[in-house]
Amino acid sequence: MFLKSLNIFLLLIADVALHTVQVKVEQGTVIGIRLSTVFEKKLYYAFYGVPYAQPPVGELRFKDPKPAKKWETPFDASLEYHGACSQAHIVHKQGLYGFENCLNMNIYTPHLPKDGNNNLKPVIVWIHGYAFTSSFSHIHGADFIINNDVLFVSVTHRIGVFGFLKKNETDTHANMGLKDIVRALQWIRRNIKKFGGDHNQITVMGNGSASTFLSILLMTKFKKLFSKMILHSGALYSPSLFQTDHILERDRLLKALKKITLDDLDTAETKDIILASANIYTSKELINFQRPIIPFMPTLEEKSKMALVTNDPLKENLKHNTPILIGFNSQESISEAIPFIHNPRFLKSFEAFFKFMVPFTGKCRYNYTSKKYTEISDKIKNKYFAGSITEHSLDNFLRYVSDLLIYPILQFINTSLNKKKDNMYVYKFNYVGNFSAVKRNSLANANVRVKGAAAGDEICYVLKCEPLWEDYVRIIPDANNKDRKLIAEMANLWSNFANYGNFFVA
Ligand SMILES: *[C@@H]1O[C@H](CO)[C@@H](O)[C@H](O)[C@H]1NC(C)=O
Ligand SMILES: *[C@@H]1O[C@H](CO)[C@@H](O)[C@H](O)[C@H]1NC(C)=O
Ligand SMILES: *[C@@H]1O[C@H](CO)[C@@H](O)[C@H](O)[C@H]1NC(C)=O
Ligand SMILES: *[C@@H]1O[C@H](CO)[C@@H](O)[C@H](O)[C@H]1NC(C)=O
Ligand SMILES: *[C@@H]1O[C@H](CO)[C@@H](O)[C@H](O)[C@H]1NC(C)=O
Repeated sequence: MFLKSLNIFLLLIADVALHTVQVKVEQGTVIGIRLSTVFEKKLYYAFYGVPYAQPPVGELRFKDPKPAKKWETPFDASLEYHGACSQAHIVHKQGLYGFENCLNMNIYTPHLPKDGNNNLKPVIVWIHGYAFTSSFSHIHGADFIINNDVLFVSVTHRIGVFGFLKKNETDTHANMGLKDIVRALQWIRRNIKKFGGDHNQITVMGNGSASTFLSILLMTKFKKLFSKMILHSGALYSPSLFQTDHILERDRLLKALKKITLDDLDTAETKDIILASANIYTSKELINFQRPIIPFMPTLEEKSKMALVTNDPLKENLKHNTPILIGFNSQESISEAIPFIHNPRFLKSFEAFFKFMVPFTGKCRYNYTSKKYTEISDKIKNKYFAGSITEHSLDNFLRYVSDLLIYPILQFINTSLNKKKDNMYVYKFNYVGNFSAVKRNSLANANVRVKGAAAGDEICYVLKCEPLWEDYVRIIPDANNKDRKLIAEMANLWSNFANYGNFFVA
């Protein structure tokens, strides 16, 4: 009896050992796991939660990221990892999601050098982005990219107050969330060969605010860290940067934390800091900004050795020769317009007062009470709403907000094309299927039909989105499924771009 169970035990160990692999990186050995892709059953290796910097905790909280330390015993990266950075819970109002110790990445590779295949493969690095506040990358899998023999790395970086609090005017620790990304890219350049990746063929890819940030990197010396760029639904001119007052936000944070002083901030509870950071601006103040405003966003830094963004990118001369694949979706506005989609009669409130809705760039805004503001909003009303906004104006409203979101992307395309005529591919995504996750969630239980694809809807056709796992599994037997064909096509186009800088070569 004892022998028998020992046998089974040994078999189990052997089984696990067969499925794990080891790779040596600069900090030590990493243990990964062998898996297979959902549709094609192609073998690949996953390394979950590999640290690329020291945990930004204790003394390192609110500090620029520091290089990771060596480890003695092998680092087990074979277990699926759910290490989002600390943020407010999306569903539970008083809840906390994620951890402060979060500077890790997931690495997925179709070949390890020791498989006898010494051809290094291109790498796509995914940076999560959702207005720099609530986001994570562990739900985005590599399966479709792996099928095209390209490596996929997803990076987790600090967001919100932990990513962007600046303690005082002279604090050089600023934009930590962005510096995390730079440090991750540096780590990838130095170590990706060990996973079979080509450090000279790194494509960075982002969505929304991550695209905005990645395009800022084009203006810094860090553009050398990658060779190509894929920007989904965001670019340099998307008005989400440098809007807020950092010292005001710090003071409000301390006030919300009550007895906690600036010095105590380093030891305060994660949850207290997150909850306090959520209510920095009052609703009256929010009205005075022209768009919904999010505290703790990227900031302009004083020039110093550690600084990343010192010049206003909007005023910089865009000079680069990085191939770019950039695009947007046909109805970008959907997730920003959820309350109106569910209650079109809310639109009537815009008839009297077109608040939040006049476009702006940089610091250029108009006071609500000014004549200029009324003039501009009247022009917009005439163009998009034939003069009046009613509960039947939803389509026009969505079109207007989509234009607001798409315009900065077109501006970026224009500026880049004026400098150099090639090396840029532009897509417009208009497909709606069962993996159009953003539209699906935004419209759940709504009584209206909305045309087009929402911002972010293309992503689950390029990356395998964990929350839709059952939907992918359902179409495994059906190779001719329409969604599945699009997945194969999109992943192939995106991988071709990473491989050849060309959208079409097969
Ligand atoms: C500003 O913050 C930095 C980093 O926390 C600290 O070293 C410095 O003493 C602070 N300066 C002032 C004037 O408070
Ligand atoms: C992509 O960005 C859009 C907004 O720009 C957002 O609605 C969507 O959730 C994002 N998706 C992912 C996967 O980051
Ligand atoms: C807008 O203008 C009014 C009247 O000139 C002024 O009282 C108010 O403070 C201004 N608001 C902002 C946010 O500048
Ligand atoms: C792009 O450039 C064209 C031609 O120069 C111009 O007509 C158009 O208004 C520009 N669009 C944007 C969004 O800058
Ligand atoms: C989408 O899902 C529905 C419900 O499961 C199904 O009837 C439909 O065929 C699916 N569409 C595709 C393209 O798979």
